Amino acid sequence: MERTFVMVKPDGVQRRLVGEIIRRFENRGLRLVGMKLLQPSRELAEKHYAVHLGKSFYEDLVNFVTSGPVVAMAWEGDNVISLVRKMMGALKPEEASSGTIRGDYTADIQKNLIHGSDGPDTAKYEIDLWFSKSELLVSLEQ
Ligand code: GTP
Ligand code: MG
Repeated sequence: MERTFVMVKPDGVQRRLVGEIIRRFENRGLRLVGMKLLQPSRELAEKHYAVHLGKSFYEDLVNFVTSGPVVAMAWEGDNVISLVRKMMGALKPEEASSGTIRGDYTADIQKNLIHGSDGPDTAKYEIDLWFSKSELLVSLEQ
């Protein structure tokens, strides 16, 4: 059993796609173990996207993610990290297949609706960054 961090980005909240995104993960049988709505501070966004510091799109990205409320979630399931990445769709709009969240709802490389952790280390880092322990359900395995 694994956990991953998912964020509905400001464009997803603005476009009223929060319910649609949650519905897809629930339909797939994933378990929601933490969720909150917040407008991220610059500090939080910078920590979240620290890996992209120095890249050409970094400044735009931090500005975008702090521009409005986002929905931060933690999801649990078998191989949930890669499963969520598959359901999100690829970064490049022309590579995001239909049937994926990005492939069905966006063609913009930045305003791409959703973030999902890309590996076990990032998932742990991001869940710890966005949630305190008391905001997360106890694992079913415990
Ligand atoms: P995340 O789940 O948000 O991390 O997306 P990703 O893992 O599919 O992509 P990546 O981590 O490489 O990039 C993080 C975010 O930066 C993307 O989701 C985009 O919002 C933005 N981004 C990445 N590459 C570009 C780019 O070339 N141009 C612009 N404008 N934004 C980019
Ligand atoms: Mg990423």
